[in-house]
Amino acid sequence: MSKTIFITGASSGIGKTTAIYFAERGWNVAATMRKPQEEVELVKYKTIKCYALDVMDEESIEKAFHWAIQDFGAIDVLLNNAGYAALGPFEAADKYQIAKQFDTNVIGLMSVCQQFIPYFRERKSGSIINISSVGGRITFPLYSLYHGTKWAVEGFTESLSFELKPFNIKVKIIEPGAIKTDFYDRSPDLLKKEGLHVYDAYVDKISANFLRAAASAPGPEVVAKIIWRAANSNSFKLRYAVGSGAPFILFLRRILPHAWFMGLVRRVLDRS
Ligand SMILES: NC(=O)c1ccc[n+]([C@@H]2O[C@H](COP(=O)([O-])OP(=O)(O)OC[C@H]3O[C@@H](n4cnc5c(N)ncnc54)[C@H](OP(=O)(O)O)[C@@H]3O)[C@@H](O)[C@H]2O)c1
Repeated sequence: MSKTIFITGASSGIGKTTAIYFAERGWNVAATMRKPQEEVELVKYKTIKCYALDVMDEESIEKAFHWAIQDFGAIDVLLNNAGYAALGPFEAADKYQIAKQFDTNVIGLMSVCQQFIPYFRERKSGSIINISSVGGRITFPLYSLYHGTKWAVEGFTESLSFELKPFNIKVKIIEPGAIKTDFYDRSPDLLKKEGLHVYDAYVDKISANFLRAAASAPGPEVVAKIIWRAANSNSFKLRYAVGSGAPFILFLRRILPHAWFMGLVRRVLDRS
Protein backbone atom coordinates (compact mmCIF):
# COMPACT_ATOMS: atom_id res chain seq x y z
CA MET A 1 0.00 0.00 0.00
CA SER A 2 1.25 3.52 -0.81
CA LYS A 3 2.58 5.64 2.00
CA THR A 4 1.30 9.16 2.73
CA ILE A 5 3.14 12.35 3.60
CA PHE A 6 1.37 15.43 5.06
CA ILE A 7 3.14 18.70 4.17
CA THR A 8 2.59 22.23 5.48
CA GLY A 9 3.42 25.22 3.27
CA ALA A 10 3.10 23.23 0.03
CA SER A 11 2.12 26.23 -2.12
CA SER A 12 5.72 27.01 -3.13
CA GLY A 13 9.43 26.30 -2.78
CA ILE A 14 10.62 23.32 -0.75
CA GLY A 15 7.07 22.26 0.22
CA LYS A 16 5.72 22.19 -3.32
CA THR A 17 8.82 20.54 -4.79
CA THR A 18 8.74 17.86 -2.07
CA ALA A 19 5.05 17.20 -2.78
CA ILE A 20 5.84 16.54 -6.44
CA TYR A 21 9.00 14.55 -5.63
CA PHE A 22 7.05 12.15 -3.38
CA ALA A 23 4.04 11.88 -5.71
CA GLU A 24 6.35 10.96 -8.62
CA ARG A 25 7.78 8.14 -6.49
CA GLY A 26 4.43 6.56 -5.63
CA TRP A 27 3.49 8.28 -2.35
CA ASN A 28 0.17 9.91 -1.55
CA VAL A 29 0.58 13.55 -0.62
CA ALA A 30 -1.63 15.70 1.60
CA ALA A 31 -0.42 19.09 0.38
CA THR A 32 -1.62 21.77 2.76
CA MET A 33 -1.50 25.51 2.16
CA ARG A 34 -3.25 28.72 3.06
CA LYS A 35 -4.99 29.16 -0.30
CA PRO A 36 -5.62 25.76 -1.92
CA GLN A 37 -8.21 27.38 -4.20
CA GLU A 38 -5.32 29.11 -6.03
CA GLU A 39 -3.23 25.96 -6.58
CA VAL A 40 -2.99 24.94 -10.24
CA GLU A 41 0.08 22.69 -10.40
CA LEU A 42 -0.34 20.11 -7.63
CA VAL A 43 -3.98 19.43 -8.51
CA LYS A 44 -2.79 17.79 -11.75
CA TYR A 45 -1.38 14.84 -9.76
CA LYS A 46 -3.83 12.02 -8.97
CA THR A 47 -2.11 11.15 -5.69
CA ILE A 48 -1.87 14.72 -4.38
CA LYS A 49 -4.78 16.28 -2.54
CA CYS A 50 -4.70 19.93 -1.46
CA TYR A 51 -6.19 21.11 1.83
CA ALA A 52 -6.52 24.50 3.52
CA LEU A 53 -4.16 24.88 6.46
CA ASP A 54 -2.75 27.94 8.15
CA VAL A 55 -0.35 26.91 10.90
CA MET A 56 -1.66 29.81 13.02
CA ASP A 57 -5.23 28.47 12.83
CA GLU A 58 -5.70 25.36 14.99
CA GLU A 59 -9.10 24.55 13.54
CA SER A 60 -7.64 24.41 10.03
CA ILE A 61 -4.92 22.02 11.26
CA GLU A 62 -7.50 19.68 12.77
CA LYS A 63 -9.70 19.79 9.68
CA ALA A 64 -6.86 19.14 7.22
CA PHE A 65 -5.63 16.23 9.38
CA HIS A 66 -9.08 14.59 9.41
CA TRP A 67 -9.68 15.15 5.69
CA ALA A 68 -6.31 13.60 4.85
CA ILE A 69 -6.99 10.52 7.01
CA GLN A 70 -10.40 10.18 5.40
CA ASP A 71 -8.98 10.46 1.86
CA PHE A 72 -5.83 8.37 2.27
CA GLY A 73 -6.68 6.05 5.18
CA ALA A 74 -3.47 6.80 7.11
CA ILE A 75 -0.56 9.25 7.34
CA ASP A 76 3.01 8.00 7.71
CA VAL A 77 5.08 11.18 7.66
CA LEU A 78 4.46 14.75 8.80
CA LEU A 79 6.64 17.40 7.14
CA ASN A 80 6.55 20.71 9.04
CA ASN A 81 7.83 23.01 6.32
CA ALA A 82 5.75 26.24 6.49
CA GLY A 83 7.85 29.22 7.49
CA TYR A 84 9.30 32.56 6.46
CA ALA A 85 11.89 35.06 7.63
CA ALA A 86 11.57 38.51 9.12
CA LEU A 87 14.57 40.43 7.74
CA GLY A 88 16.01 43.66 9.07
CA PRO A 89 17.35 45.26 12.24
CA PHE A 90 15.59 43.98 15.34
CA GLU A 91 15.02 47.54 16.52
CA ALA A 92 12.70 48.09 13.58
CA ALA A 93 10.36 45.17 14.37
CA ASP A 94 6.98 45.89 15.90
CA LYS A 95 5.29 43.54 18.39
CA TYR A 96 3.00 42.13 15.72
CA GLN A 97 5.94 41.19 13.48
CA ILE A 98 7.78 39.54 16.37
CA ALA A 99 4.70 37.55 17.44
CA LYS A 100 3.86 36.51 13.88
CA GLN A 101 7.40 35.26 13.24
CA PHE A 102 7.28 33.02 16.33
CA ASP A 103 3.60 32.07 15.87
CA THR A 104 4.32 30.80 12.38
CA ASN A 105 7.74 29.17 12.64
CA VAL A 106 7.54 27.85 16.22
CA ILE A 107 4.05 27.80 17.76
CA GLY A 108 2.45 26.83 14.44
CA LEU A 109 4.91 23.96 13.97
CA MET A 110 4.24 22.83 17.57
CA SER A 111 0.46 22.92 17.00
CA VAL A 112 0.80 20.64 13.98
CA CYS A 113 3.03 18.28 16.02
CA GLN A 114 0.39 18.16 18.76
CA GLN A 115 -2.25 17.16 16.22
CA PHE A 116 -0.11 14.25 15.00
CA ILE A 117 1.65 12.90 18.11
CA PRO A 118 -1.33 11.05 19.67
CA TYR A 119 -2.12 9.56 16.27
CA PHE A 120 1.45 8.33 15.64
CA ARG A 121 1.76 7.17 19.26
CA GLU A 122 -1.34 4.98 18.99
CA ARG A 123 -0.14 3.55 15.66
CA LYS A 124 3.32 2.97 17.18
CA SER A 125 4.86 4.38 14.01
CA GLY A 126 5.31 7.62 12.12
CA SER A 127 7.92 10.24 11.32
CA ILE A 128 7.93 13.94 12.15
CA ILE A 129 10.30 15.91 9.93
CA ASN A 130 10.79 19.55 10.90
CA ILE A 131 12.42 21.99 8.52
CA SER A 132 14.88 24.08 10.45
CA SER A 133 17.82 25.76 8.71
CA VAL A 134 21.56 25.98 8.87
CA GLY A 135 20.42 29.19 10.59
CA GLY A 136 19.12 27.03 13.44
CA ARG A 137 22.73 26.28 14.41
CA ILE A 138 24.58 29.47 13.33
CA THR A 139 23.51 33.09 12.88
CA PHE A 140 23.80 35.97 10.44
CA PRO A 141 22.98 39.64 11.10
CA LEU A 142 19.50 41.06 10.34
CA TYR A 143 17.85 37.67 10.80
CA SER A 144 17.70 37.80 14.61
CA LEU A 145 13.99 36.94 14.81
CA TYR A 146 14.25 34.19 12.21
CA HIS A 147 17.28 32.66 13.97
CA GLY A 148 15.40 32.88 17.26
CA THR A 149 12.64 30.75 15.73
CA LYS A 150 14.92 28.22 14.05
CA TRP A 151 17.09 27.78 17.16
CA ALA A 152 13.83 27.16 18.99
CA VAL A 153 12.81 24.57 16.39
CA GLU A 154 16.19 22.83 16.86
CA GLY A 155 15.91 22.63 20.65
CA PHE A 156 12.25 21.66 20.59
CA THR A 157 12.74 18.95 17.98
CA GLU A 158 15.87 17.48 19.56
CA SER A 159 14.10 17.17 22.93
CA LEU A 160 11.00 15.69 21.29
CA SER A 161 13.13 13.00 19.65
CA PHE A 162 13.98 11.53 23.09
CA GLU A 163 10.42 11.33 24.36
CA LEU A 164 8.88 9.95 21.18
CA LYS A 165 11.47 7.24 20.49
CA PRO A 166 9.85 4.73 22.92
CA PHE A 167 6.72 4.93 20.72
CA ASN A 168 8.72 4.23 17.56
CA ILE A 169 8.13 7.77 16.28
CA LYS A 170 11.11 9.03 14.31
CA VAL A 171 11.82 12.73 14.72
CA LYS A 172 14.08 14.49 12.24
CA ILE A 173 15.45 17.94 11.51
CA ILE A 174 16.35 19.15 8.01
CA GLU A 175 18.89 21.99 7.95
CA PRO A 176 19.04 23.61 4.50
CA GLY A 177 21.62 26.21 3.57
CA ALA A 178 20.56 28.88 1.04
CA ILE A 179 18.03 27.43 -1.43
CA LYS A 180 16.59 29.31 -4.38
CA THR A 181 12.85 29.77 -3.57
CA ASP A 182 10.41 32.58 -2.82
CA PHE A 183 12.05 32.76 0.62
CA TYR A 184 14.29 35.64 -0.52
CA ASP A 185 11.86 37.73 -2.58
CA ARG A 186 8.10 37.11 -2.14
CA SER A 187 8.08 35.73 1.40
CA PRO A 188 10.25 37.86 3.72
CA ASP A 189 8.72 40.34 6.13
CA LEU A 190 11.00 43.37 5.79
CA LEU A 191 11.53 45.12 9.11
CA LYS A 192 11.42 48.89 8.73
CA LYS A 193 10.55 51.72 11.10
CA GLU A 194 9.66 55.22 10.11
CA GLY A 195 12.53 57.62 10.81
CA LEU A 196 15.03 54.85 11.58
CA HIS A 197 17.80 55.18 9.00
CA VAL A 198 21.01 54.47 10.92
CA TYR A 199 21.01 50.87 9.71
CA ASP A 200 20.28 51.63 6.04
CA ALA A 201 23.81 51.33 4.62
CA TYR A 202 24.48 48.16 6.61
CA VAL A 203 21.16 46.62 5.55
CA ASP A 204 21.90 47.42 1.89
CA LYS A 205 25.36 45.86 2.05
CA ILE A 206 24.40 42.71 3.95
CA SER A 207 21.16 42.17 1.99
CA ALA A 208 23.09 42.37 -1.28
CA ASN A 209 25.35 39.58 0.02
CA PHE A 210 22.33 37.44 0.93
CA LEU A 211 20.78 37.99 -2.50
CA ARG A 212 24.07 37.06 -4.20
CA ALA A 213 24.22 33.84 -2.18
CA ALA A 214 20.58 33.09 -3.03
CA ALA A 215 21.17 33.69 -6.76
CA SER A 216 23.85 31.01 -6.91
CA ALA A 217 22.05 28.63 -4.53
CA PRO A 218 20.68 25.26 -5.64
CA GLY A 219 16.95 24.75 -6.21
CA PRO A 220 14.60 23.05 -3.73
CA GLU A 221 15.05 19.60 -5.36
CA VAL A 222 18.22 19.04 -3.30
CA VAL A 223 16.17 19.44 -0.13
CA ALA A 224 13.32 17.25 -1.44
CA LYS A 225 15.88 14.46 -2.02
CA ILE A 226 17.13 14.66 1.57
CA ILE A 227 13.56 14.74 2.89
CA TRP A 228 12.91 11.61 0.82
CA ARG A 229 15.94 9.96 2.41
CA ALA A 230 14.82 10.98 5.92
CA ALA A 231 11.23 9.85 5.32
CA ASN A 232 12.35 6.42 4.11
CA SER A 233 15.04 5.90 6.72
CA ASN A 234 14.69 3.15 9.31
CA SER A 235 17.17 4.91 11.56
CA PHE A 236 16.58 7.44 14.30
CA LYS A 237 19.21 9.80 12.83
CA LEU A 238 18.17 13.28 13.92
CA ARG A 239 19.87 15.90 11.73
CA TYR A 240 20.25 16.24 7.96
CA ALA A 241 22.17 19.28 6.65
CA VAL A 242 21.75 20.02 2.94
CA GLY A 243 22.68 22.49 0.20
CA SER A 244 24.93 25.55 -0.24
CA GLY A 245 27.79 24.07 1.76
CA ALA A 246 25.57 23.59 4.84
CA PRO A 247 27.35 20.39 6.02
CA PHE A 248 30.75 22.12 5.66
CA ILE A 249 29.60 25.30 7.45
CA LEU A 250 28.25 23.23 10.33
CA PHE A 251 31.49 21.23 10.41
CA LEU A 252 33.46 24.51 10.76
CA ARG A 253 31.03 25.64 13.45
CA ARG A 254 31.78 22.43 15.37
CA ILE A 255 35.57 22.49 15.14
CA LEU A 256 36.46 26.20 15.26
CA PRO A 257 36.58 28.21 18.48
CA HIS A 258 33.42 30.28 18.68
CA ALA A 259 35.18 33.65 18.29
CA TRP A 260 37.02 32.45 15.14
CA PHE A 261 33.80 31.25 13.59
CA MET A 262 32.02 34.55 14.33
CA GLY A 263 34.97 36.44 12.84
CA LEU A 264 34.78 34.32 9.71
CA VAL A 265 31.04 35.04 9.29
CA ARG A 266 31.69 38.76 9.81
CA ARG A 267 34.47 38.84 7.21
CA VAL A 268 32.41 36.98 4.59
CA LEU A 269 29.31 39.15 5.10
CA ASP A 270 31.18 42.43 5.28
CA ARG A 271 32.52 41.95 1.76
CA SER A 272 30.90 44.50 -0.52
N1 LIG B 1 15.06 28.94 0.99
C1 LIG B 1 16.01 28.89 1.88
O1 LIG B 1 17.14 29.38 1.66
C2 LIG B 1 15.78 28.19 3.20
C3 LIG B 1 16.92 27.85 3.96
C4 LIG B 1 16.74 27.23 5.19
C5 LIG B 1 15.46 26.92 5.63
N2 LIG B 1 14.37 27.25 4.88
C6 LIG B 1 13.04 26.92 5.40
O2 LIG B 1 12.35 26.14 4.46
C7 LIG B 1 10.94 26.29 4.66
C8 LIG B 1 10.26 26.53 3.32
O3 LIG B 1 10.73 27.76 2.79
P1 LIG B 1 10.95 27.96 1.23
O4 LIG B 1 12.38 28.25 1.03
O5 LIG B 1 10.32 26.88 0.44
O6 LIG B 1 10.20 29.37 1.04
P2 LIG B 1 8.81 29.74 0.32
O7 LIG B 1 8.85 29.34 -1.10
O8 LIG B 1 8.57 31.15 0.68
O9 LIG B 1 7.75 28.80 1.05
C9 LIG B 1 7.26 29.05 2.33
C10 LIG B 1 5.93 28.34 2.50
O10 LIG B 1 5.47 28.55 3.85
C11 LIG B 1 4.10 28.93 3.75
N3 LIG B 1 3.62 29.66 4.92
C12 LIG B 1 4.06 30.83 5.45
N4 LIG B 1 3.30 31.16 6.51
C13 LIG B 1 2.36 30.17 6.65
C14 LIG B 1 1.29 29.92 7.55
N5 LIG B 1 0.98 30.78 8.55
N6 LIG B 1 0.57 28.78 7.40
C15 LIG B 1 0.83 27.91 6.41
N7 LIG B 1 1.80 28.11 5.50
C16 LIG B 1 2.56 29.21 5.63
C17 LIG B 1 4.01 29.77 2.48
O11 LIG B 1 2.66 29.88 2.10
P3 LIG B 1 2.08 31.10 1.21
O12 LIG B 1 2.33 30.71 -0.22
O13 LIG B 1 0.63 31.12 1.56
O14 LIG B 1 2.82 32.34 1.61
C18 LIG B 1 4.86 28.90 1.55
O15 LIG B 1 4.10 27.81 1.09
C19 LIG B 1 10.76 27.41 5.68
O16 LIG B 1 10.52 26.86 6.96
C20 LIG B 1 12.12 28.10 5.66
O17 LIG B 1 12.43 28.72 6.89
C21 LIG B 1 14.51 27.87 3.68
